[in-house]
Amino acid sequence: MQFHVVTGFPKLLAGPLSESIIKRARERKLVEIFVHDLRDHTTDKHRSIDDYPFGGGPGMILKPEPIFRCVEHIQKEFQLAGARVILTSPQGETFTQRKANALAQEPALIFICGHYKGVDERVREHLATEELSIGDYVLTGGELAALVVMDAVIRLQPGVLGNLDSAVGDSFQTSGLDYAHYTRPEVFRSHRVPEVLISGHHAQIAAWRRAEAEARTRARRADLLQNRTKSDFLTEDRT
Ligand SMILES: C[S@@+](CC[C@H](N)C(=O)[O-])C[C@H]1O[C@@H](n2cnc3c(N)ncnc32)[C@H](O)[C@@H]1O
Repeated sequence: MQFHVVTGFPKLLAGPLSESIIKRARERKLVEIFVHDLRDHTTDKHRSIDDYPFGGGPGMILKPEPIFRCVEHIQKEFQLAGARVILTSPQGETFTQRKANALAQEPALIFICGHYKGVDERVREHLATEELSIGDYVLTGGELAALVVMDAVIRLQPGVLGNLDSAVGDSFQTSGLDYAHYTRPEVFRSHRVPEVLISGHHAQIAAWRRAEAEARTRARRADLLQNRTKSDFLTEDRT
């Protein structure tokens, strides 16, 4: 799967895209990520990507020309005319695990990162295919939002997660929350891990995990329980 990020601040993305699971996924060519600097698509000598808002008021607005030019360059160079163009915005559809699963089916995604007071509205009207928000709060820019969406989508790509840290059973993937996890030591500062987990009894461990997932979903996110059946709770045995 291919990801393209259009940003005026490419350095904001460097760290998270070059560590851990995403780094390995890139090295193994399971995903390709291209970060495009908006300033490379400007035509004035100051390489400006923003300007004052018509009508006055505080804050700067990202100009439409470099964004259109950059996205059209990506569409042409990478033959991605049909790819979804996602404008990061606190006003967009709220990103969820369901949306991550849907986006993970796409061959490529193009993200536009806003900044300052926002993006010229014509980008939303005539270039973006959709707007995505990562929650009801306002960030300084869309880079972190694009990273959040990419991270959630990348870990769903076949082969990215090994069997041991598979996405099966993660919170929301089963329309509930995940069960509690423990590792060595068996006793830490006098706190013991639940006895059943060291019993070696696979059926009992699976039953404990199902009950645990159900109980914590009920206690913390009862809203997720609507429209779900008992089998939605994790049945996978990862012992
Ligand atoms: C300071 S925000 C602009 C907020 C805008 N004035 C508003 O109130 O809707 C700058 C940029 O950060 C990004 N951004 C901020 N909050 C976001 C969120 N919750 N989800 C996705 N992107 C967000 C968007 O790209 C946005 O254009």
